[in-house]
Amino acid sequence: MSDLKHLFEKNREWSSGIRKDDPEFFARLSRLQAPEYLWIGCSDSRVPANQIAGLLPGEVFVHRNIANQVVHSDLNCLSVLQYGVDALRVKHILVVGHYGCGGVKAAHGNLRLGLVDNWLRHIQDVKQKHAARLATISNESSVIDRLCELNVVEQVLNVCQTTVVQEAWNRGQALTIHGWIFGLTDGLVRDLGISIDAPGEVQATYEKALLTLDAPA
Ligand code: CO
Repeated sequence: MSDLKHLFEKNREWSSGIRKDDPEFFARLSRLQAPEYLWIGCSDSRVPANQIAGLLPGEVFVHRNIANQVVHSDLNCLSVLQYGVDALRVKHILVVGHYGCGGVKAAHGNLRLGLVDNWLRHIQDVKQKHAARLATISNESSVIDRLCELNVVEQVLNVCQTTVVQEAWNRGQALTIHGWIFGLTDGLVRDLGISIDAPGEVQATYEKALLTLDAPA
């Protein structure tokens, strides 16, 4: 415990810094959370949701797992999605991948890391699905970057296909799903051109995003 003293000190500094600017901040926050955004991102320590988007506590509901996946049988992710959409009524769901993702690299390289291999099997499915377009890229690190992008596009599709999102759209709730990717080397977020706010747009927007990725930069 004592060797983590610095974390408590940092916490006190952080709390008093915020209260200095806005004395009522935490009192207000403790009464209600009303975030407009649900972030689905990678667990990677270098991809923190709030800091990247410049958001304060209370402004983004967050789910993170290895390689930012939305798996149809993952009750954890689905519960976050359901609570975010039905109870918090977020307006935007941000699926945020990142270049240089260790999970994507491990899946691509068939690494044996243990239990996590089973989770990363879903990324290998993405790789198989897009084997033909990945085969056109000669540089290995560019293949991994493209797989990181394709993974985001596929996870956006998965979010759109959940009963939670389908039912929200059916009842006329305003909800847009976006696909973004974060660059570890420059700290910038890039929009992958897949923003979907209606069931009828899913397939066409998905296909268009894939064509954009295929086009020479
Ligand atoms: Co990652």
